[in-house]
Amino acid sequence: MPGFKLAIDGPAGSGKSTISSLIAKRMGWTHIDTGAMYRAVTLLALELKVNLNDEASYRFLETSNIHYDYDKIFINNRDVTEDIRSEAVTNNVSLVSSFPYVRKMMVELQQKAADYGNIVMDGRDIGTVVLPHADLKIFLTANVEERAKRRLKEHQKKGKSSEITQVIEDIKTRDQKDSTRKESPLRRAEDAIIIDTTHLTIDEVVMKIIELTDKKEN
Ligand code: DC
Repeated sequence: MPGFKLAIDGPAGSGKSTISSLIAKRMGWTHIDTGAMYRAVTLLALELKVNLNDEASYRFLETSNIHYDYDKIFINNRDVTEDIRSEAVTNNVSLVSSFPYVRKMMVELQQKAADYGNIVMDGRDIGTVVLPHADLKIFLTANVEERAKRRLKEHQKKGKSSEITQVIEDIKTRDQKDSTRKESPLRRAEDAIIIDTTHLTIDEVVMKIIELTDKKEN
C-alpha cells in the first residue's frame, strides 16, 4: 500500500468531510468521503423504489457503478454530488448503511480506491474496518449543540429554514443509529487521536492534523 493513508472518523456534523477535503487540497492528496458513497446507494435505492428494509433489494449494486472523483460523486457516470444531500437521502442513509451486504460492497470499493497514492478518507469505520493499518487515525468529536449549529448554517446557505431543536434531535437520532448498529458501528479505533472540534475553527483543526501527519511522515 504505497502512499500515506489518513483515516478520519467521527459523528455527523463533526466536520469530517469539510476538514478532510481541505487537508487533501493543501497536501495535494486524494479525498474519499465514504458517507457520500452510502448516500449514493441510498439515492439509487430511492430512485429504483426498492424495499429499503430488505437487504436483498440492494443487489442492484452488482451492476451499478459508484465512484468518487475530485470531491464529486457519480452513479453510473451521473454526477449526484448535490442530489445525495436531499432530506430523503439523509433520513434513510442510516438504515441503508446498516446492511452487511451494502457495507461489504462499499468497503471493497473504498479499499480499492485507497490502494495507491496519498489518501485522506473520512467516515465512521475507516480506522476500525476499512483502513485498520492507516498511517494516522483521527477521531473528530464536537458537542451536539455545536454540530447542530454547523448543520443549521449549511441549511441556511441552501436557503432552507430549520429549527435548532429539530436539528439537534435529528443528529441525536443519527448518532444513536450509527453507533448502536450491529455492523461496523461508529467507534473510535484504539490507536486514533481524538480531536474535540467544539471550540476550534476549521483551519485550526486542519493545521493540527497536518502537523500530526508531518510528524508521522518524518
Ligand atoms: O458523513 P455523512 O453524514 O454523509 O454519512 C451518511 C451516513 O452514512 C451516516 O449516517 C452513516 C453512514 N456511514 C457509514 O455507515 N460508514 C461510513 N464509513 C460513512 C458513513
